[in-house]
Amino acid sequence: MHRREFLLSTALAAQAAEPPKVGIIGLGLRAGAHLDALRQLGDAQVVALSDLDSARMAKANQGLPAPAATYTDYRELIRDRNVQVVVIITPGYLHHQMTLEALRAGKDVLVEKPLANTYAQALDIQREARRTGRIVAVGMQRRYFRNDAEYQQVVDSGALGPVRLITYWDFRGDWNPSTWQYTDPATGRRTSWRWLKKTAGSSELEYSIHSLAMVTNMVKAPLQRLAASGGVVHYAGRETRDVSAIIVDFASGARLNYSFSCFAPGGGSGCIVIGDEATLRREQGRLMLYPRAGKPRPAGIDASLLPGEDPEVLMYREFFRSVRQRTPSVLAPEAALEPSKIAYGAELSITENRIVTAQDFA
Ligand SMILES: NC(=O)c1ccc[n+]([C@@H]2O[C@H](COP(=O)([O-])OP(=O)(O)OC[C@H]3O[C@@H](n4cnc5c(N)ncnc54)[C@H](O)[C@@H]3O)[C@@H](O)[C@H]2O)c1
Repeated sequence: MHRREFLLSTALAAQAAEPPKVGIIGLGLRAGAHLDALRQLGDAQVVALSDLDSARMAKANQGLPAPAATYTDYRELIRDRNVQVVVIITPGYLHHQMTLEALRAGKDVLVEKPLANTYAQALDIQREARRTGRIVAVGMQRRYFRNDAEYQQVVDSGALGPVRLITYWDFRGDWNPSTWQYTDPATGRRTSWRWLKKTAGSSELEYSIHSLAMVTNMVKAPLQRLAASGGVVHYAGRETRDVSAIIVDFASGARLNYSFSCFAPGGGSGCIVIGDEATLRREQGRLMLYPRAGKPRPAGIDASLLPGEDPEVLMYREFFRSVRQRTPSVLAPEAALEPSKIAYGAELSITENRIVTAQDFA
């Protein structure tokens, strides 16, 4: 090995052994869970913070073992040479721009869901991550929820046979009422960023994406055809749908019936998976199998294979492992893309009043 290569590999090894230096952009409601996870993990150093609101930066700084640099302009955080990893927890419409800028500055990135507000932007991020060779993870921490892991385990065991139909419902009240208010530069009007299409994309992209990811992880086949219906029927002044129904056919022959409402406090969420051999559903907290022949029985989960820590802690643990070992994250843009296609497809189907197919994503 030449001396220069030796010095470079020694420097990289030393960097890999040190706690990653993290800069966080966006210190709203969700940032609390990130800061908590980083505190619990104790394996990273938060060295920089950015938010438009300096009081939020000051508050976050109070909880850190050593004060981080603070920047009202996120570009300064990205330029900060001390920052190795950029964590983006801002509203969805900023994810594309901020992620690309961080990648181009040579940083690894953990960006909250959704990956981006449009399919074209999501592909851009995927391309840029490959081109720069940086690690990108999307904050889809439900991969580490016990509920989702239990369903996944049973489906992967083959106990249901080929999956034919999944029915999923998410009925709830509106979420995060104290959400950040976006000011429209054209009108000066202030609105919750979750209520506007240009800032949130859609309710399905902003909220349902977690449930849609659970479904696509179980199905493991691309979207083939989608039809959706929905609109705003309850909240005055809202653009993002408060009710929708989506039907998806996947290339494997599996189908999804998804139903959403955010004016249904107490409505609850649930999932039933129907295969050729059996039906899987949760009843009184327990996952139950209803075989085509024979009696219903508990699904027989191997608890030793289930996630055993806070989802966010597990998410960061895996992300930092990828950063250290320079291996792709399990939450890479590719993993976020398939469920995002359902949300983008629902928007297309409803606004253009048509059936969406795989061609729309070719
Ligand atoms: N994975 C999950 O379960 C989960 C849960 C909630 C939210 N989220 C995601 O986290 C992100 C943030 O959601 P939230 O609930 O914290 O929103 P929020 O409205 O509470 O906070 C958004 C923050 O971003 C800041 N911000 C806005 N523009 C900025 C800019 N240009 N530079 C720096 N900061 C800026 C705001 O000042 C505010 O502090 C969204 O992408 C959301 O989808 C994920």
